Amino acid sequence: MLPSPSIEDYLERILALVQDKGYARVIDIAAALEVRAPSVTKMVQKLDEMGYLVYEKYRGLALTPKGEQLAQSVKKRHKTLAQFLQILGLDEHTILHDVEGVEHHVSPRTIIALTDLVKFFKGNPDRLREFKEFREQDSHHGKSGSRVRKKSSATSQV
Ligand code: CO
Repeated sequence: MLPSPSIEDYLERILALVQDKGYARVIDIAAALEVRAPSVTKMVQKLDEMGYLVYEKYRGLALTPKGEQLAQSVKKRHKTLAQFLQILGLDEHTILHDVEGVEHHVSPRTIIALTDLVKFFKGNPDRLREFKEFREQDSHHGKSGSRVRKKSSATSQV
């Protein structure tokens, strides 16, 4: 079973719906988050009480500036993490799964560091290529890495 979506998941999804379609309905949020409509209604009422959005049963919902700000910050975190994993060459499925899993737990400082790293690799494609070549040689990770290291230290000792 998937863990139940957090406040940030809701706000992220609501912002995406509003940006794509111009509005976010309970039924669309339920579909996007794979939860039942009554759970969405409950959460949306809670988010309204917390000041993240305004919910009127027959008129739909709108993010408040506070809700929009948090949603934008989640969106930015998502984008930065996705770019970072993309640059490392991971597949889209893994990226989406992992980004959704970690995006709520990453501090602003880490996001800034990852943004810099992505910038660095984009500005230095040779370095990125070196890194990817390194990974190809070292495709069994821990094991082959230590094997390669042993081999080179053995030759230097001889
Ligand atoms: Co996300």
